[in-house]
Amino acid sequence: MKVDTLDLFEDPLPPCDMEAGAAKNRGSANRGMSSRALFDRFVAADYYLFNIPMWNFGVPYVVKQLVDVVSQPGLTFSLSSKGYTGLLRGKRACAIYTSGVFHPDSSPEFGRDFQSTYFTHWLNSVGVKDVEEIRLNAADRSGTFADDLNHACARAAELGRRL
Ligand SMILES: Cc1cc2nc3c(=O)[nH]c(=O)nc-3n(C[C@H](O)[C@H](O)[C@H](O)COP(=O)(O)O)c2cc1C
Repeated sequence: MKVDTLDLFEDPLPPCDMEAGAAKNRGSANRGMSSRALFDRFVAADYYLFNIPMWNFGVPYVVKQLVDVVSQPGLTFSLSSKGYTGLLRGKRACAIYTSGVFHPDSSPEFGRDFQSTYFTHWLNSVGVKDVEEIRLNAADRSGTFADDLNHACARAAELGRRL
């Protein structure tokens, strides 16, 4: 198995500027080489493993940048009067969602989850429907963090064995 690791902070992503956006909306082949290279690298994978911390209730900006650069009309999705259709096929994913404060059992004063709801929705919208989620929430506050961590690690190991 070949593993391709993309560190979104170490490997700067190409910008998704107005020109790139206009080219995407035209469905044009006239895209910047670097965004095309990133797209090709992304779609070459059969299995995705995403490690996504909650930042200000959503995903870190570099994850949003990845989404904006990779999403290509006619390549990752199509849009009709029936809505979006994902065009990626046969891909699976695991998304690890962590948070330092938010916990699904906490009251809304501790935050809401626009992280997994957003990112898993995006994966589904481009055709990646087989998505496993591993959650490790409230790392700073949870009294059960050690157990939660063991549980998350066991689940990750189990998913790894199934690859
Ligand atoms: C810029 C930033 C924003 C964050 N915003 C939130 C947040 O809105 N809710 C939350 O529960 N945790 C928040 N955190 C905590 C991270 O989710 C937490 O550190 C991460 O899930 C655990 O990964 P780490 O061990 O790599 O820090 C934030 C952390 C950073 C650095």
